[in-house]
Amino acid sequence: MKALVYHGPGKCALEDRPMPAISHPADAIVRVTRTTICGTDLHILNGDVPTCEPGRILGHEGVGVVHDVGSAVSSLKPGDHVLISCISSCGKCEYCRRGMYSHCTTGGWILGNRIDGTQAEYVRIPHAETSLYPIPSDADEDALVMLSDVLPTGFECGVLNGKVEPGCTVAIVGAGPIGLAALLTAQFYTPARLVMIDRDTNRLDVARRFGATDCIDIGTSDPVTAVMKLTEGVGVDCAIEAVGIPATFELCQALIAPGGTIANVGVHGVKADLHIEKLWDRNIAITTRLVDTASTPMLLKTVRSGKLDPKQLITHRFKLGEIGSAYDTFGRAADTHALKVLIEA
Ligand SMILES: NC(=O)c1ccc[n+]([C@@H]2O[C@H](COP(=O)([O-])OP(=O)(O)OC[C@H]3O[C@@H](n4cnc5c(N)ncnc54)[C@H](O)[C@@H]3O)[C@@H](O)[C@H]2O)c1
Ligand SMILES: [Zn+2]
Ligand SMILES: [Zn+2]
Repeated sequence: MKALVYHGPGKCALEDRPMPAISHPADAIVRVTRTTICGTDLHILNGDVPTCEPGRILGHEGVGVVHDVGSAVSSLKPGDHVLISCISSCGKCEYCRRGMYSHCTTGGWILGNRIDGTQAEYVRIPHAETSLYPIPSDADEDALVMLSDVLPTGFECGVLNGKVEPGCTVAIVGAGPIGLAALLTAQFYTPARLVMIDRDTNRLDVARRFGATDCIDIGTSDPVTAVMKLTEGVGVDCAIEAVGIPATFELCQALIAPGGTIANVGVHGVKADLHIEKLWDRNIAITTRLVDTASTPMLLKTVRSGKLDPKQLITHRFKLGEIGSAYDTFGRAADTHALKVLIEA
């Protein structure tokens, strides 16, 4: 089968690899019909994720059709259409019982990281019954690919951890797919102000269309001054960091109002400063989270009922054979205006 293989920082290639096989009775093999590229895949290529070793097939998002199941799998059968969660979970370990699937002792974020991922024709999914979500055969699969990672991440790590509530003020730093997913799902709670901060004018235009009340381009204005002006000098109740670099984590610290919450979403590859000398008396909280995908069943319902339209995030389409171009397009988002690039089998 064809698969995109990671070969160390800066290097990956589309190659022929053997078909994955069932190696545990709880496994399923899924024929991937659609996958996509995540900002985290770029972090891997940048060398920020040391657990992902050369030789690994990348990708942790996708939908597909069950091809084969192990002997312990009873709720899925070949031919079933499924959404692949970016988090694999056994459902039984201490973390899974607490709903913290991202830290499952035999799962978590392993796909396209510690085990081969979804940017391939077929993928082996461990703990299949608790890591795949059956979807109707006529479901809008393009929209559902956004539920593997992007929507649950923006919602859980950003909106839920950030304690977004009616009437509050929210700043989202980073208008990439994850920041935009936080923007879409923050609106479940009708915050009074949703401020989007980026330096990509196209993405800020998209954010405005997606419901941002204010957009700040860091290329033309100072974000701290701008946010303080919008909030009468107070700052925001919730600052969501959706980039993953020291500058944006520090910006969130400068934007947060007394009693507020900084919800870090970005994957960080290097250390960042914590200005405790300014924040110690401000009653704030800082949260970090690896997405648990505990909200996936709820998000599936909101998408199917039409309350949420994540398909808006898809800007480009490629065939698996063109995945090199897909990475190039996604990696040069400022020029190509890419948000999510859909890769079809
Ligand atoms: N915590 C988790 O479980 C989890 C899951 C998935 C992704 N992530 C991470 O979330 C982050 C965002 O993902 P994405 O796919 O949206 O990434 P992305 O790279 O597409 O988007 C990042 C955005 O940040 C903007 N940006 C860069 N520098 C900036 C600055 N100084 N100030 C303001 N904006 C700036 C860029 O223009 C871009 O629009 C990444 O770090 C990704 O790895 C975390
Ligand atoms: Zn991801
Ligand atoms: Zn578990």
